[in-house]
Amino acid sequence: MSDDMILGADDFDESMDFDGLDKVEFSVKMKGVSRKYLLGSREVIALNQVDLKIRSGEYVVVSGPSGSGKTTMLNIIGCIDYATEGRIHILDVPIEDYDESFRATFRLNNTGFIFQSYNLISTLTALENVMFPMQITDKPEEELEQDASELLKKVGLENRLDHLPWQLSSGEQQRVAIARAIANDPAIILADEPTANLDEESAEMVRQILDSLNKSGKTVIVMTHDEKIINNSEVRHLLIRDGSVISDD
Ligand SMILES: Nc1ncnc2c1ncn2[C@@H]1O[C@H](COP(=O)(O)OP(=O)(O)OP(=O)(O)O)[C@@H](O)[C@H]1O
Ligand SMILES: [Mg+2]
Repeated sequence: MSDDMILGADDFDESMDFDGLDKVEFSVKMKGVSRKYLLGSREVIALNQVDLKIRSGEYVVVSGPSGSGKTTMLNIIGCIDYATEGRIHILDVPIEDYDESFRATFRLNNTGFIFQSYNLISTLTALENVMFPMQITDKPEEELEQDASELLKKVGLENRLDHLPWQLSSGEQQRVAIARAIANDPAIILADEPTANLDEESAEMVRQILDSLNKSGKTVIVMTHDEKIINNSEVRHLLIRDGSVISDD
């Protein structure tokens, strides 16, 4: 795509007003989406011609062998990476038509990422980590603190606000990461192996939080090997292999 085809915030009808985007029918639409990497002269096809629609409010779990393309798919949905072929709409926005600055703001407003290894900022307390993505709002600092401590209370960490990441257990760090993911009340929650590094009790807590986020109306998309999430009868399960979706039930 040539540079003059790339759109910025000014080209978006409603400018940066994202209100109403969470009312759209489909959170994700992918048509013929591929992601190819060139390593020297060798082409690696991480995602191969994926067609996929995810309704707003759905809970989708994607499993598949290591290297099958799960993280690649999640990063593309989360606007962290881009497709090399195909069309993608996130909340009805044709996200690949926009420039990086728009995509970054879109990502902060509309998606919340939860990683396998938490990715908290090591020099910030639990409260500050949750406040970090809230910088896109113009609310006063005290209000942000109030909002962030409410979110930490939601995940059972009201007594850990001032702890630095190393002063928290793995399960607590992941719950801080979840509170941070929902800091801007995004319509879509994306999680990459969120329970892989946790003991069973913490993993169960994370499963329950993801369930309750979905029940509160959020689209939840989880890449995982966790059988307890995969076997949850209420979730839609996609199986991916060699970059293609091979089953969907
Ligand atoms: N930056 C990159 N450059 C080249 N190849 C890449 C790159 N990132 C990923 N790949 C390749 O793309 C394929 C899909 O990778 P991806 O990380 O999406 O797999 P995954 O399903 O998440 O695996 P895992 O379960 O181990 O996390 C793999 O073969 C991987 O080696
Ligand atoms: Mg992965």
